Amino acid sequence: MTRTLITSAIPYINGIKHLGNLIGSQLPADAFARYKRARGGEVMFICATDEHGTPAELAAAKAGKPVAEFCAEMWEVQKRLSDGFRLSFDHFGRSSSERNRALTQHFAGQLADNDLIAEVDEKQIYSKADGRFLPDRYIEGTCPNCGYEAARGDQCENCTKQLDPTDLINPRSAVSGSTDLEVRETRHLYLRQSKMRAKLNDWIDSKKDWPILTTSIAKKWLNDGDGLRDRGITRDLDWGVPVKRGDEDWPGMEGKVFYVWFDAPIEYIAATAEWADAQGLDDSAWQRWWRTDKGADDVRYVQFMGKDNVPFHTLSFPATIMGSNEPWKLVDYIKSFNYLNYDGGQFSTSQGRGVFMDQALEILPSDYWRWWLLSHVPENSDSEFTWENFQASINKDLADVLGNFVSRVTKFCRAKFGEQVPDGGAYGDAEAAVTDEIATRLKAFEGQMEAIELRKATSELRAIWVAGNEYLQSAEPWAKFKTDPEQAAATIRFALNLIRLYAVLSGPFIPDATATILSAMGDEGAAWPNDLDAALSALAPGHGFSVPEVLFAKITDDARAQMEARFAGA
Ligand code: 2FM
Ligand code: ZN
Repeated sequence: MTRTLITSAIPYINGIKHLGNLIGSQLPADAFARYKRARGGEVMFICATDEHGTPAELAAAKAGKPVAEFCAEMWEVQKRLSDGFRLSFDHFGRSSSERNRALTQHFAGQLADNDLIAEVDEKQIYSKADGRFLPDRYIEGTCPNCGYEAARGDQCENCTKQLDPTDLINPRSAVSGSTDLEVRETRHLYLRQSKMRAKLNDWIDSKKDWPILTTSIAKKWLNDGDGLRDRGITRDLDWGVPVKRGDEDWPGMEGKVFYVWFDAPIEYIAATAEWADAQGLDDSAWQRWWRTDKGADDVRYVQFMGKDNVPFHTLSFPATIMGSNEPWKLVDYIKSFNYLNYDGGQFSTSQGRGVFMDQALEILPSDYWRWWLLSHVPENSDSEFTWENFQASINKDLADVLGNFVSRVTKFCRAKFGEQVPDGGAYGDAEAAVTDEIATRLKAFEGQMEAIELRKATSELRAIWVAGNEYLQSAEPWAKFKTDPEQAAATIRFALNLIRLYAVLSGPFIPDATATILSAMGDEGAAWPNDLDAALSALAPGHGFSVPEVLFAKITDDARAQMEARFAGA
């Protein structure tokens, strides 16, 4: 069986992420990882914090903390929140790790040896008041494209145009506000990715099964001319991976660091090495995931990310990997996502608009959010969070359909037959019919999960829950109990087995409910229903169970209105 390596785009360290960020990468990656594990596959699921670059430095300055201390604290916060959302990473690393420093310097050395690095003297903006160069977000000014006055040196937030610091009109330092700026020469390393255009093009063309969203973005950048321009991979900053050529100093590059987008994807590899270190394992443990000369030939590598990250993962990072001329594992499948919008607009960190991960967990359990987000994941177009839709989805899918089924069946059984699975003899035609329906749907569900079509998968799962409800409705054990208690007992035995089945199938989406239900059913280790008939008889007559606590509480209109007002933003 092939092993599955799964990475999620690594979130910037500079703040707490909102639900749009969560569903744009980490959460769908988690559902897929949980599914592959449930199917018995060997999985390595990796994420980390993206700790370098100007966003981290500026956020630390704003918090009045040294950047290393700020990052260490924010890593703890992000780790706690990802645990809260039950993101099942095998390792949640840090791009500022020693492992990433060494690997980043190693890749730079390989690229230089293979003539893929150019040393370029270029003009950068220098602030005399701050005594430093002002790359990327260290500089602000008016956008030459749209006139927005707070555009940053790397991009205009208003019109999204990618900018160069020297493009800005009326530039000023984002640190001190000083306008006493001058253009100075400074030497930087450029990745000569334009030399790799044909190779990258062929590679992308060979990926016939990739989602259109991924290939269309990759192709656009590849063919636009500008997209594969040679790019500066170093910066005049203090915080970052120091520029070295492997272990050697790089003359002329003293005091400079690699650009954050150069070292961030290398952290996927480094974080796997951090995992091995944390487990007390040697290098072969992580290399068997990443080096095709060390056993990674049977690994399928799947990346998850938002659409804005696609160019870096289809062009720059593969250019780094291929350009190293070493047998590193290249990605096999890139699942990318559109954006989730918030209630008629966008999530906004600066305006406090929308729900952020910490707030979400304060209000409701993570399963509620996971279910809504995964069943509305922006796969084919942008999608939108509204409180009305959220309330309806939780109340119908989780409370009425799944929760109610579990509670009705277990409570009825406890009242009439006690807290063990009743007998009632063989299943009949009604059970055979619903088993048939579920078998068909289960096959579809598995196909959708394999294809990472999560929206379709959640609606298939919902239909499987509904099938059980309809079965119960027409079998009427509460009425039958008076006339044919044997029949009612068989119905309840089947329904208890359906509950167990539902818990297993729902694990990728609502893992806490899965754990609660399986523990109530006295079968924590329940495995995937590879044989559906066997799975629907797994809980035999006499097997003990308990009635679980209320699984999902309904969201009232009042509660909804309060939350809506609270998160509307300034
Ligand atoms: O867009 C972002 O949030 C980036 N921090 C993603 C980096 S993914 C990678 F390359 F590691
Ligand atoms: Zn603009």
